[in-house]
Parts: sequence; structure tokens; C-alpha cells
Amino acid sequence: MAGDSGRSGSVYGSVAEPCTVVLFGASGDLAKRKVIPAMYDLAIHNGLGPRYAIVGFARTPMAEDVFRATLGEAAKSISEVGPIDPKQWDAFAANLYYSPGDYGNPEAYAQLAKRLAELESAKNIGGNRLFYLSTPPEVYPDIVEQLGRAGLSQPPSPKSWARIIIEKPFGRDLASAKALNHIVLNVFDEKQVYRIDHYLGKDTVQNLLVLRFGNGIFEPLWNRNYVDHVQITAAETLGVERRGGFYETAGALRDMIQSHVLQLTSLVAVEPPASFDATAVRNEKLKVLQSIRPFDLGMVAQEVVRGQYSPGKLDGKLVPGYREELNVNPSSKTETFVAAKLLIDNWRWAGVPFYLRTGKRLATRSTEIMIQFRSAPHIVFREKEVEPNRLILNIQPDEGISVSFGAKRPGTEMSIGNVTMNFCYRESFGDVSRSAYATLLNDCVRGDATLFDRGDSVEAAWSLVDPILDVWSATRTANVPQYPSGSWGPRESDLLLERDGRHWYNP
Ligand code: BG6
Repeated sequence: MAGDSGRSGSVYGSVAEPCTVVLFGASGDLAKRKVIPAMYDLAIHNGLGPRYAIVGFARTPMAEDVFRATLGEAAKSISEVGPIDPKQWDAFAANLYYSPGDYGNPEAYAQLAKRLAELESAKNIGGNRLFYLSTPPEVYPDIVEQLGRAGLSQPPSPKSWARIIIEKPFGRDLASAKALNHIVLNVFDEKQVYRIDHYLGKDTVQNLLVLRFGNGIFEPLWNRNYVDHVQITAAETLGVERRGGFYETAGALRDMIQSHVLQLTSLVAVEPPASFDATAVRNEKLKVLQSIRPFDLGMVAQEVVRGQYSPGKLDGKLVPGYREELNVNPSSKTETFVAAKLLIDNWRWAGVPFYLRTGKRLATRSTEIMIQFRSAPHIVFREKEVEPNRLILNIQPDEGISVSFGAKRPGTEMSIGNVTMNFCYRESFGDVSRSAYATLLNDCVRGDATLFDRGDSVEAAWSLVDPILDVWSATRTANVPQYPSGSWGPRESDLLLERDGRHWYNP
């Protein structure tokens, strides 16, 4: 994986080749909140190479200095990469350019091609080009087709490269994901395509692979003989904020399960890859998705739960319900919570349930993976009820790992208490606030696709959630269970585990 051994000295390792990034959707929220601050972080750490240009492309006509100033204001107020240094920002902003145009207009791409050639020559950048699609997904096909028509999908010289990063959601079901793959692969080669899922850029997510395959003690236990079940929770306290319009067409299944939560599932369940390169790792991850038992009608009814947040209290404050949010239909049936039980039909995991859940406006913000081990086969102590051992991987916000086990309570009695051993990222390694986007951009400019999704995997993930979407759309009249904001989701979610004699481990 890019930078793993090479990140010594600088957080992003050796200096990257010069390149030009074309950011589509440059005036949008994602660009302002995540992509531009990540590029700034990369640039100030030499991750973008000594010479670079970032060309924003969006519909809004805007002068270049206004574009720079707007991004500067946004970066200072909402940056996720720590405080922005004004001097370093100015140096970075001098490399920002703007090229307005309609996404479907060939002339705008002819202009863009001209601008790229001028900048590359004036700044001696060479011909490496990265196209970043951070627009609403409806315009992806237009952009890809126009890039192809303008001859921009191929690098200007055999020594340079052209790559494309495509944001999630990649499709809204299996059919649309296939259609989009078809359009993209008509114009670009799969090797040029980087489908981004920012969860894979999180250090703690990558640490899952290090934990499993860089240590000798965990992997022997990592299977059906020792693991009772796995829980994966991606809980948010935020509601839909200003994204009500988008969320109404998405819902938690599409927005979180199909992407982030299935990525986490794949990494927990994956077999050791033959080597740590993009093909080997992604081949193994694909096999996990292909081994998950497909949902049929009965399974959707029994093993998948949805919910929608109603008004409630979070951090002592009253918050509105989903149906009262901006741009949300007051009788909306869109789910803001999903819990599901998955079975992975392979030799390692046969019979071990994976319980997944995600939701907005839950009690705590926490993304966590909990591996619960089987109990000791025979307890020789008088105390027969001993808590099972748990390994908890805290992805965010308190990044770390803990193991719980039974210990003898001090005293004359042979009594067992449950204790926890903790590893805390921040204590061991200092600041861990690196942006996932910066990590992934850095990998992309270095040509390492290990942490990006391949076309076949995206389709495999959609084929898993498609039957659930079908059942839910056929039962549109059914009520979506409500849960008060600040809770852990609807009662049905607890029942999903209680039926199996288990319960959720709440962070
Ligand atoms: C995005 C979803 O992909 O991930 C959002 O569209 C969600 O709805 C976000 O809030 C969660 O990301 P993170 O990094 O804050 O856990």
C-alpha cells in the first residue's frame, strides 16, 4: 500500500510527481468540507509534488479570485485537517484555478483541455491528470462521456497518467451501478478508475488489516471455532442536516450499509491476501461479498430492520424528527436506521452471525467493531456466569482497541470480574486526526488503488442490498418503525439479537 513503508520522514512519504487535479463540483459542499482541505494538507506536506495545479470545474460562473477566497473561507471554518496556516494557505491557493461550464457541454471541455495544456506548460507540470468527480451523481455520466470525447481520458503523453476518482454513491442499485460501470469503462480503463469510499482512508480501518495480518496472536482465533458473533456499529448523532433532499432519495441502506459498513465487514472477514497490492487485496475482499448469503424475501422480513428518527433529546437539547427536517417529506418512509444480520457462507465464518447497524441521531457517535468470542468450554469455578471475551476495535471517535476478559477479584473469595485492556491510538501515536481524504488522494496520485473500490466489488455490494430495496419498495405502505432521537434505534433492532439469545453491545 502506498506510503506504508515510505511514509517515514513526511506523513505522505516520498515526494509525488507533479500533477494537475481537475475537481468537478468544486463549489459544492463536499469539495469545500473535505476535498480541498485534504488537498491543502497534502500540498503542505509535499504529497502533491513540487509543482501542481488544481482546476475547479463547476456550473456557477465565478472569477478565479472569488473561487480562491470562497474556498479559503470555507477551509478556515470547517477544515478537518487542523488549523489552516494563512501563509501556507496563500501559497496553496496560488495553485487554484477555476474553469466554469455545464457538465454536458462539449465546449466547456474543449476550454478545459486548453486550460490544462496552458497550465502544464506554464508551470512545467507535465501531463499527469487526476479528474475528481465530487458532483451530484446524476451528472457522472455526462462528465465521463465528455472527458472521453474531449480526449482527456487518455494522458497527453505515454509517460504521464490520467486517473479518475468517483465519489459514492456509485449507482443507486445494481442496475444503475452496472450502467455507470459500463459508461465509465467505455471511456477509462479499470486501472485508471478510483472509486472512493472514505472509510478505507481512515487509519483505524486500515489498522484492522495490520491487527489481523501483522500479528501472530489474533489470526488463529479469527474464525468460527472461536468467534461467537461479530457486531459492527456505525452510529451518528447528527441528523440529515442540510442534506434532506439527497437523503430522501438514499436512506441509510444505500448511504451507509452498501458502502462503509460492507467495507468494514469485508475487512473483518477477509482471508489473508497473497500480497499487499491492489489486485490481491481486492480479489479477497470481493470473495467475502460473494460469500455473504443473499437475502430472500423471508430473510428481509426476519433479519433486516429499518427505523426513522423521531423528535428526542441529544446532549440535553431537543432535536426534531426526520420528518420535520428541511426538504424531507412530512410522511417520508425513508429509513435513517438499519440493522441487519448477515451470514457468510464460507469455511472461516459458517454459522457466525455478523450483526450490522447504522443510524442517524443515535445516542453516541461511534463506529465500532466488536468480536465476541465463544465462552470457555467448561467453567471450573463456582461462579458459572462469566462474561464472554470481547475484542473491540474503535474506529472513531476514540480510536483504539480493547480486549475484555475475566480476572480474579481481589479477596479471599474466588470471584471473577470483567476487566478491560486498552490501546489508545492518541496515547501511543499522538495526534491521529489525519484526513481520510488526504490519505486516499495521496494513494491515487501515487497510483495505488488498494484502498479504492473495484467495479466488480461495487456491483457485488449492490447485489446484496438490492433484494432489501425491492422488498421495502414493494411494502411502501408499511410503517417505518420510529425511534426517539438519542436512543439506540427501534425496539425491533434489539429483538433481532434477542431472538438469537444475544444483545447489542452499545459503545
Ligand atoms: C457519508 C454519508 O458517506 O458518510 C453520510 O453520506 C455520513 O451520511 C458520513 O454522515 C459518515 O462519515 P464519517 O466519516 O463522519 O463517519
